[in-house]
Amino acid sequence: MTTAEYSHALHTLVEDLTTALKTATSLEKLETLRTEYLGKKGSFTQLGKQIKDIAGSDKKEAGQILNKAKQQIEDLLAAAQETIATKQAWIDLTIPGKKPEVGHMHPVSQAMEEITHIFEQIGFTRVRYPEVDWDWYVFEALNMPKSHPARDEWETFFVDAPTDDQKGKMVLTTHTSNGQVREMERLHSKPPIRMINIARCYRRQQDATHTQMFHQFEGLVVDKGITIQHLKGTLDYFAEQFYGPGTKSRIRPFHFQFTEPSFEVDFSCHICHGTGYLDDKEEQKCRFCKSGWHEVGGAGMVHPNVLKAGGIDPDEYTGFAFGWGVERTYTLKEGLNLDDIRLLYSGDLRFLHQF
Ligand code: PHE
Repeated sequence: MTTAEYSHALHTLVEDLTTALKTATSLEKLETLRTEYLGKKGSFTQLGKQIKDIAGSDKKEAGQILNKAKQQIEDLLAAAQETIATKQAWIDLTIPGKKPEVGHMHPVSQAMEEITHIFEQIGFTRVRYPEVDWDWYVFEALNMPKSHPARDEWETFFVDAPTDDQKGKMVLTTHTSNGQVREMERLHSKPPIRMINIARCYRRQQDATHTQMFHQFEGLVVDKGITIQHLKGTLDYFAEQFYGPGTKSRIRPFHFQFTEPSFEVDFSCHICHGTGYLDDKEEQKCRFCKSGWHEVGGAGMVHPNVLKAGGIDPDEYTGFAFGWGVERTYTLKEGLNLDDIRLLYSGDLRFLHQF
């Protein structure tokens, strides 16, 4: 056999395989072809053996042609295998797509919306005032003159900013009570006032039950003839609306500079229904409350000096105010015994997903 004949035979073999592969649509068929060509008794293998019939001087060239043909055959088989495999990776177009995750409002924002709604129902207006404010609004106008010891109750962050001649230093608001005199000013000292102010507050505190930043909501009502009964009625209304029917409020004497008289406000525990026990026999103590009540915040009748600071005549008008933390109000509602209140601000989705 001459080199030309040998080359021709190999070429034909490759052509045959190319044709055969066109109808090979399964991996089984492909394997059969592979054996037919490259197997021990395969046509290519046989042809390879015939190289011994070629004259010595031409063997080298024939060998090169043989190697090239082998490479072609292997490439053809590999390409065919890839095509079949891709086709077999069947795509089900009816499978629903992967939806992007939809978020939801942060639990504290949800609580703020709900609180706003409850008070809007009885004619309050939600307002917002600066969370970085003058000492005047945060302390002095609230009947707390400079260096008054009552100020120590609020662990204040002072802002490194120029001091105002009249309004003093700038501070991060320690409570939402800064909104009281600001609201009187907004309404040009003309009651009626029915304000609900919800805002961030800041105090130098950080542990499992306190965060440096938290939220408060503050109610203020000023009009002719406002009494403690209006305050108590408003607290009862909120208790029922937010915690559910049957929840009661309780006020206990306390002291704030900006209210007189002042009270601490408790709500009956909606888990044990104010009994302090989870069962009728009173054997299982409720672990959410202190003997049936939750202490939530402060309240009182607006101090005459505060009305005066807001340009309102205390002989003509009276008012009440209350204020406390959104976070605590919310976690009580959910019966959440959070070991660490800081979880609320950790941004941990495993936690937030639950609400
Ligand atoms: N500002 C007070 C506090 O942060 C609460 C309060 C508000 C008390 C309104 C009386 C009236 O503790």
